[in-house]
Amino acid sequence: MNQRLDKLISEGLGISRRDAKKLISKGRVHINGEICRDPRRKTRPQDVTVDGKALQHEEFVYIMLNKPAGVVSASRDKNDITVVDLVKDDFPRRELFPAGRLDKTSTGLVLITDDGKFAHDILSPKKHVPKTYFVTVDKPVDEFVVKEFEKGVTLADGSVMKSAQIYPIGDGLSARIVLHQGVYHQIKRMLGVYGIGVNSLHRSAIGGLELPQNLMPGEYMKLDSRQLLKIVNHHLTKN
Ligand code: URA
Repeated sequence: MNQRLDKLISEGLGISRRDAKKLISKGRVHINGEICRDPRRKTRPQDVTVDGKALQHEEFVYIMLNKPAGVVSASRDKNDITVVDLVKDDFPRRELFPAGRLDKTSTGLVLITDDGKFAHDILSPKKHVPKTYFVTVDKPVDEFVVKEFEKGVTLADGSVMKSAQIYPIGDGLSARIVLHQGVYHQIKRMLGVYGIGVNSLHRSAIGGLELPQNLMPGEYMKLDSRQLLKIVNHHLTKN
C-alpha cells in the first residue's frame, strides 16, 4: 500500500513526523535506491531505506505510555482525553487501543497496541503476567492485610480474588502490590475491604517490563522485541 514518505518513516522508526521530515530533507532517505527529499511522496515501505537500511513495515505496533492522571484508558471518549489521543499522531492509520486499563486517577505503565492477540494473551489470567503497582494509602497496611492478600481477598460483592502480594513500605502508608489478574478497580476494592482508602496508584511494571524512570507522565516509547519479551518472560527478570 502506498503511503506518504514522512508518515511511513515516522511509523517505521517510531519517531515524530518532524524528525522524519528532517531525515528526508538531509538526503538520508532513498526510494528504490534514489534519494527522495519530498516528504509527501507516496511509496511502499519495502521500497524505502534510511541510511541504507531497509525500513521494515511492522505488522503491529507496541507502545509503552506513562499515563498521567486525568486521562482515560480507552481509544476514544466524548469528554476526556484518552491514552490513544496522547500517542496517535505518531501512529497514523493504526487502530490503537490500550491492552489493559488503569483508572482515570491512576498513573503509570499502559501498553497501547493494534495487536489484538497480544493484548488478549497478556491480559489472560492463564498467561500469569503479574502487574506491579505502587500505592499510597490513608491507613497503614499491616501484617494482617499482607496475609489476607496472600490468601485471596473476598470483595464486597462476594467475588474471591486470586492470591496477591502486598509489601508495606516504611510506616505502611505506601506499599508495592503485585496482582495476577485484572478486575475493575481491583486494588481499591481489595484495600476497601479493610477500610483502607487509596490516595494514589501507580503501575510500575507489567511482567518484567518496567516503566523507565526517565519516561515522564504523558511520554511514550515504542517497544522493541527485547522489551516485548520481558513482558511474558517476567520469571527471567528480577522485578
Ligand atoms: N486497581 C485499581 O483499583 N485501579 C487501577 O487503576 C488499577 C488497579
